[in-house]
Amino acid sequence: MDLHLTRRSAIIMGGSQGLGLGAALALAKEGVRPYLLARNEATLQQAATKITAETSITPQWHSVDFASQESVQTCLKTLKADLPEVDIIIGNGGGPPLGPATECDPALWQQEATTMLLPIMQLVSQYLPGMRQRQFGRILMISSTSIVEPIPNLVLSSALRSALASWGKTLAREVAQDGVTVNTILPGRFETERTATLNKIRAEKAGIPLAEFRKQKEAGIPAGRYAQPEEFGHLVAFLASPLAAYITGTRIPIDGGLLHGF
Ligand SMILES: NC(=O)c1ccc[n+]([C@@H]2O[C@H](COP(=O)([O-])OP(=O)(O)OC[C@H]3O[C@@H](n4cnc5c(N)ncnc54)[C@H](OP(=O)(O)O)[C@@H]3O)[C@@H](O)[C@H]2O)c1
Repeated sequence: MDLHLTRRSAIIMGGSQGLGLGAALALAKEGVRPYLLARNEATLQQAATKITAETSITPQWHSVDFASQESVQTCLKTLKADLPEVDIIIGNGGGPPLGPATECDPALWQQEATTMLLPIMQLVSQYLPGMRQRQFGRILMISSTSIVEPIPNLVLSSALRSALASWGKTLAREVAQDGVTVNTILPGRFETERTATLNKIRAEKAGIPLAEFRKQKEAGIPAGRYAQPEEFGHLVAFLASPLAAYITGTRIPIDGGLLHGF
């Protein structure tokens, strides 16, 4: 299927590894020029090299820390100069730390809200007028199944991602007649650095070997396995394409059947 994405451009937040890199690779394979954002320059360079090797497209990248507004402001200026217009924005980043709802650290909530909500809103705000004028734009947010069925001990993720999805839903209705779609993707369990880190912490807490913990987790997924970032990329490429013009304001799980009631 031709997704009609050749010569489009995309900014991929958290695009240096994991789901973000899966999205960037899938888009590049369709002829999209990716612009990767993340903190670690070496990982960004590695990701760019991998994309070029697999697609012959050379991505641009910029090092930014979404937790720092100073860094985000510099990034917005750099992007404006490097990429005056963009067609696709993938809202993504590192997930928040584990923690229960019974404890509240106001500084942590403020920090995570700033990191998880503001940069994507600021990026969209910079590029939305151009998208509306050109009657084409795709805004895709990488969220989590936790906004539908909260994951125990991960309240920051469930609560703040719910807020972001609600912002996206509101935005989708405001721009629906301008060729701009806004959707929230809900990944279940993918094989990435973040999953590996969280599993290690949880297995230690449960006092069981990591391999055993993983086996238990996979048994709880109807598909019986974790997925690969590449599989995530396929969904992103379709939703970013002109073929998905009538899909907007929605939340789309990609979870091997993990969610029970959605
Ligand atoms: N993997 C899953 O199964 C799964 C399931 C549900 C939800 N999610 C969520 O989906 C998102 C991506 O997950 P992932 O598994 O792909 O994570 P990952 O492998 O840890 O990748 C995260 C990406 O975000 C970048 N990043 C992290 N913190 C950043 C910051 N402060 N500023 C700028 N860039 C930052 C990382 O690069 P640097 O570290 O170099 O900055 C990296 O490129 C996360 O929010 C995660 O919670 C993942």
